[in-house]
Amino acid sequence: MTKKITIAIDGFSSTGKSTLAKQLAKHLGYIYVDTGAMYRAVAFFAMQNNLISSDSFNKVELVNRLKDILLEFKFNSDLGFAEMYLNGDNVEKDIRTIEVSGFVSKVAEVSEVRAKLVEQQKEMGKNKAIVMDGRDIGTVVFPDAELKVFMTASASTRAQRRYDELLQKGDVVTYEEVLKNVEERDYIDTHREDSPLVMASDAVEIDNSYLNREEQFQAVLDLVNNIIKGD
Ligand code: DC
Repeated sequence: MTKKITIAIDGFSSTGKSTLAKQLAKHLGYIYVDTGAMYRAVAFFAMQNNLISSDSFNKVELVNRLKDILLEFKFNSDLGFAEMYLNGDNVEKDIRTIEVSGFVSKVAEVSEVRAKLVEQQKEMGKNKAIVMDGRDIGTVVFPDAELKVFMTASASTRAQRRYDELLQKGDVVTYEEVLKNVEERDYIDTHREDSPLVMASDAVEIDNSYLNREEQFQAVLDLVNNIIKGD
């Protein structure tokens, strides 16, 4: 039987982590988990319940209400990946807006939020055969993952990619707004006290500013195959 491994993919926002993770999961027949979607769903819950706005954030109430938040991934066979459900509702589209992107780093700073989501993530990975992407997967969620990838690209490259994606979806945003959001999230993600974004000492760094999807996928697949066949 082929050895099943855990693949942790971390890195800055809009580095194409989820694209790579989905490609790998599909190719290997593994589960794919987008942990950013979980933090986004909590941010969306906070927005819906008026717990967060551009000038206020009721952290205490969000922590009190965490018990009311049920997060589930349900596989959509038409799309070929799982979508995020919040308390039974499909929120896949709602969580990808620029508003949610603006609030999510603040929500992800709250230790009680992190503890709840990390516990659920560890549970999802207990049978291995999983590709999980996020910010703390190789450092906190799966410190023993057989493969850890850390993805980087310049802020302007990432903002351009995100801007193109949002335009395609019909969102009305400027490139400058998207760049500002990318830079703010980088700052908060790398400076928060609990589980800041850092590269695990045993991670492989991939700067994909100048790599296309296929080149990046091949590079990581080679690493996977070395691990699977190396034993
Ligand atoms: O990957 P993303 O852009 O969808 O993530 C949304 C936010 O969630 C991002 O600003 C950082 C946070 N996040 C986190 O703190 N830890 C994770 N494991 C995943 C995401």
